[in-house]
Amino acid sequence: MKFISVEQAIEKKKGSVDIRGWIYRIRKLKDKVFIVLRDSSEIIQCIVKDPSLVKISDKLLVESSIEISGKIYKDKRAPTGYEIEVKKLNIVHVAEDFPIGKDQSPEFLLDKRHLYLRSRKLTASLKIRSNVLWALQEYIRKLGFIEAEAPSFSGSASEGGSEVFEFNYFGKKAFLTQSWQFYAENFIFPFEKVYALAPSFRAEKSKTSRHLTEFWHLEIEQAWANVDDLMNIAEKSIEYTIKEIIKKNKKELELLNVDITNLKKIKTPFPRIKHSEAIKLLNKKGFKIKKENDLGTLEEKALTEHFGTFLFVTNYPLKILKFYHGEDPKEPKTGMNFNLLAPKIGEVVDGSQREPDLNKIKERLKKDKIALGAADWYLDSRRFGSVPHAGFGLGTERLIQFICNLDNIKDAIPFPRTMTRLTP
Ligand code: 4AD
Ligand code: MG
Repeated sequence: MKFISVEQAIEKKKGSVDIRGWIYRIRKLKDKVFIVLRDSSEIIQCIVKDPSLVKISDKLLVESSIEISGKIYKDKRAPTGYEIEVKKLNIVHVAEDFPIGKDQSPEFLLDKRHLYLRSRKLTASLKIRSNVLWALQEYIRKLGFIEAEAPSFSGSASEGGSEVFEFNYFGKKAFLTQSWQFYAENFIFPFEKVYALAPSFRAEKSKTSRHLTEFWHLEIEQAWANVDDLMNIAEKSIEYTIKEIIKKNKKELELLNVDITNLKKIKTPFPRIKHSEAIKLLNKKGFKIKKENDLGTLEEKALTEHFGTFLFVTNYPLKILKFYHGEDPKEPKTGMNFNLLAPKIGEVVDGSQREPDLNKIKERLKKDKIALGAADWYLDSRRFGSVPHAGFGLGTERLIQFICNLDNIKDAIPFPRTMTRLTP
C-alpha cells in the first residue's frame, strides 16, 4: 500500500486513497462509526459502515493508530469538507484512555505537554515556529553571515546580574550562558559577519506571559558595522519572516485565528524614537516615568499601541545600559543602542554598537563595580585590532508569540521552561 497524507488525499478530491494516522475523534453509533483521523498534515472524517469493520472499531479509543483504505468524496458537513468511506481498516495500536479531554486546566495540559503536542493549535504554532527559525536564518545567511556556536556552559557569568544560573561543574562554579555575545565579539575577527541560534538561560523570577527561563536566542554580530546597519537587519529580517509565514503557513494562521490582514500591514521601515521622546510621550499618556528609567512591559505595550506597529526605541540612558554599549557622540550620556518593540509583546530585539575602546570599557566596569573575573578573555577583543562593531539578540519565542497571536510565550516552544516548570 502506498500511503499518502491526509492533505494529499483531500487534494485528490475523489477516488481510492490509503492513509494512516491517529484517531482525533470517534463517535460510535449502532450500525456505523465516525472517525476523524489526524496525521501531521490535516484531519479528515472517515465513516465505517461495513458490519465487520464496525465490530472491530468497537475497541478503538482516541489516539489509537490506524491505517485506512477507502473512497474519498466531497461532504460539506465534514470538518475539512471531505469524507472517506472506509473499505479496509488496519489497527496498528489500540490506545489507552487518553488523559486529555475538554476543559482541562493549563497546568494539567503542561503536565501532559508530551501528549498535548498533538493538539491542533499547538501543532500549528510549532509548525510556524519551525518556519520562523528557518526564515530568520535564511535572511541572515543571504547577507553573508556565518554560523558559529559558543558553549552553553561557562566559567563566568556572561552578563552577570541576578538572572544567571549557577551550578557545580566537577567541583567548580559554572554558569549557564545568558547570551552568545562575548563569544560573538571575538568571532568577528575571523568571520566579520557572524550569527548563532541557540538557547539562552535566564533565572527569571518574573512569571510573566513573555518570560521563559530557557529561550532560543538568535544573535548576530558584525565588524565595521554601526547601530543603524543592525537596526536595518533587525527590521528586514522580521519583515521577511512574517512574509514567509503568510506564504507558507496560511492554514496554521487561520487555525490560530490570526488576523492575516494585520500581519500584512507590517511594513518596514519601522518608526524610530529616542528613549527621551518615549518617556515624554508616555508621561503625556498619564505614566509617571523618570528620564533615567528603563521601560517595563506596560510602557512598551502603550508605545506600540500608540504607533500601531513595531517600534524602535533608541538612545537609552548610558546609566542603565551595560558596559559594552557604545556612547552616542551626537547625544552624550545615551547609548548607540536600540530595543525593537513588538505590538502587544514589547521588547523582541535588543542591540547596539559596541564600545570599541578598552580604556572606556575599563572605566565603565569600574564605575559599575563589575569584575569580569574569568570573562576577562572577552576584553582581548579590544586589545588586538579592535574595530567598530555592532550586534543584536532576538528572542525568537517572542517573535513567534507575536506572529501567532499567542496569549502566553509558553505556546511558542514545545517544552517551556519557567520558574515552576522542569518536566516533562
Ligand atoms: O535584552 P537581552 O538580555 O540582550 C542580550 O542578551 C544581548 N547580549 C543581546 C545581544 O546584543 N547579542 O536579550 C535579547 C532578547 C530580548 O530582547 C528578548 O526578546 C529575549 O532576548 N529575551 C527573552 N525571551 C524569553 N524569555 C526571557 N526570559 C528573555 N530574556 C530575553
Ligand atoms: Mg534587553
